[in-house]
Amino acid sequence: MNKIVRPETMERITTPALANAFIDEQLAEIRSQVGDKKVLLALSGGVDSSVVAALLIKAIGKQLVCVHVNHGLMRKGESEQVIEVFGKELDANLIYVDATDRFLDLLAGVAEPEKKRKIIGGEFIKVFDEEASKLEGISFLAQGTIYPDILESDGVKAHHNVGGLPEDMQFSLVEPVKLLYKDEVRVVGEALGLPHNMVYRQPFPGPGLGVRCLGAITRDRLHALREADAILREEFDNSGLAGKVWQYFIAVPDFKSVGVKDGKRYEGWAAIIRAVNTSDAMTATIEEIPYALLHKITDRITHEVPGINRVMMDITPKPVGTIEFE
Ligand code: XMP
Repeated sequence: MNKIVRPETMERITTPALANAFIDEQLAEIRSQVGDKKVLLALSGGVDSSVVAALLIKAIGKQLVCVHVNHGLMRKGESEQVIEVFGKELDANLIYVDATDRFLDLLAGVAEPEKKRKIIGGEFIKVFDEEASKLEGISFLAQGTIYPDILESDGVKAHHNVGGLPEDMQFSLVEPVKLLYKDEVRVVGEALGLPHNMVYRQPFPGPGLGVRCLGAITRDRLHALREADAILREEFDNSGLAGKVWQYFIAVPDFKSVGVKDGKRYEGWAAIIRAVNTSDAMTATIEEIPYALLHKITDRITHEVPGINRVMMDITPKPVGTIEFE
């Protein structure tokens, strides 16, 4: 199969005016491709699938069916935002599947990172497949494939969603942002009126918090990780670091150590801060977070998150570390 190539004459989309021209062009193209047929989209809430959803809602309204699978490993508030923005504000045809128990039951006792990833990816396909088979009259599958996906792979969106979509699905593809680079997708997303925090979201692995809850995932430690991560993100937002640092998150390893709380011995987990900068994710350097902010984050996490009694910082660049702490 011939690879799709971005024409050299295609102007880089850097302004709202250029984004609006692209949007108009795509609306016409989508309408002529799809006609009065129905389109299915796995909507994770990430930048690419969100922009594709917004474009398709504008082009074909309720002919688009969005399925959002909550695998229980989302960051705090993410599934809620998908429901709020797409289900309520944009009035999309949205199917929300809370599959948390299915995923966490399957992951119970599994400590090996690759096994965890396989379980999450495999189960995602199963859940999506089950939902798709309940629907009638779907002719197209929309995907948030972007140009780097085409350059890096065979144009399959496998790296960006949890595990790729079922191969045996007999749908034609609708991929309206397949010639765009990430920064252009963001400009288009803003022009479509999506919330800034959705459009400028930091990268987040498909298997989500599952990779950062080290070892075998337990519900209480996953909850602690999600809460601590939300505090870190809030403090980065408040201090202005959020728009400056490429990726920042918390990882929680699967061992406890002794601490003291309210004058009593208190065994808890450590929350490990990781904040890195990179341009291509192949190498990464460490963000030097001001100590005053580190003290504030530590104070909040240790007081507000049950189960955490220490905060640490991972200052390993990539290489030797990876960006994720898995
Ligand atoms: P590492 O940890 O390999 O990560 O240095 C490089 C970048 O890739 C992201 N990452 C993923 N992104 N699905 C994704 O869409 C995944 O399964 C996945 N695993 C890692 C990671 O967050 C970092 O930005």
